[in-house]
Amino acid sequence: MPDTGTDLDFNRLASDRARAIDASGIRRMFELAAGIEDPINLTIGQPDFPVPRAIKDAVIHAVESDANGYTVTQGGPAALASVKRQVGRDIGWACDGVRTDAMLTSGTSGGLMLAALALLQEGDELIIPDPWFVLYPKLATLTGANAITCDTYPDFKLTAERVEPLITDRTKALILASPGNPTGVVLNSRELSELVALCRERGVLLISDEIYDEFTYDDALEDGVCPSAARLWDQVLLIRGLGKTYGCTGWRLGYAAGPAGLIDEMTKLQQFTYVCTPSMAQAAFEASSAVSMRAHVDAYQDRRDLVVKELGNLTEVVVPGGAFYAFIEVPESLGLTGAEFAAKALERRVLVVPGAVFSDRDTHFRISYAVTPEKLAEGLGILRELIDP
Ligand SMILES: Cc1ncc(COP(=O)(O)O)c(C=O)c1O
Repeated sequence: MPDTGTDLDFNRLASDRARAIDASGIRRMFELAAGIEDPINLTIGQPDFPVPRAIKDAVIHAVESDANGYTVTQGGPAALASVKRQVGRDIGWACDGVRTDAMLTSGTSGGLMLAALALLQEGDELIIPDPWFVLYPKLATLTGANAITCDTYPDFKLTAERVEPLITDRTKALILASPGNPTGVVLNSRELSELVALCRERGVLLISDEIYDEFTYDDALEDGVCPSAARLWDQVLLIRGLGKTYGCTGWRLGYAAGPAGLIDEMTKLQQFTYVCTPSMAQAAFEASSAVSMRAHVDAYQDRRDLVVKELGNLTEVVVPGGAFYAFIEVPESLGLTGAEFAAKALERRVLVVPGAVFSDRDTHFRISYAVTPEKLAEGLGILRELIDP
């Protein structure tokens, strides 16, 4: 039996950076759910359909043909070419390394983290929407920068008018998610062009997180596609991923496209951190280009409509234009915070995420409708009773 000696003191060893980060509130909800029998879990941030057959086959084939080693940092040639074709077709950028370029990343989170590492240092400011996606404030914490939150209540639109007063000479970048998490709100092209014009004028990088771009519903589409800031200016950093669209969140498939100089810096940083996007999973990029997910998105639109129909007449529900979340106000008359409402819902087996996980306020709660229509209907019935006792 080796001498195990004294335990290491992680109070002393852990960095301030690590200590400044709190475990995700969503994870805490999962832990609470573990003790509940037959929970109705409306906290799930991934689609409930399986990966399409053609994409599974391509990845299985890659494993079987021994494509399991490292690829080059920017992405294997076939996958990267496929991403560049996609960006060329959809956005109109050349991605030839002259003015614009593209790279594969380890999920969308990998792209966002590399962008933060490439751009931010002590004292810099990163503007993020409130409510935000949980990673956004951490991008500042991890790089020593400050997250400056832009209040987007009550319609959850990150407009130029709201952002403008927050820009200082320390502002490096602004993150926009459209469709957003936790709200599902989509900006239209007029709102995007005002935001792009502001960023151009003030020399701020606009990071456009479009992980849910394919999850955009009919009423928010323009010319058949999700409006994108990247179509308006080729100096936007476009961040996208396959995880949500094709139900393969665990494969860690993302890409970044934007100014060639920035993609260069991010590639350098990827070389010494994530190294490369999982090699066999890269086969999904080419295979996915022939797969339409529209039928699934239409089915999610029906679920979105059900949420609005069931809760919209009882409380404030901003109609989501995409993604699979709704950010719902706890009626003031109940006198409950988002956390207190979530605790009451939990007593009835329904799991929702308190608004404070995504915001400086705790007046709302998030539901995900990425669950079966039956579970969703049951959950909405219980939430109706809680909202209107
Ligand atoms: C807005 C937004 N951006 C990024 C991500 C991270 O996605 P990925 O799994 O590709 O890292 C998520 C995941 O929920 C998200 O909602």
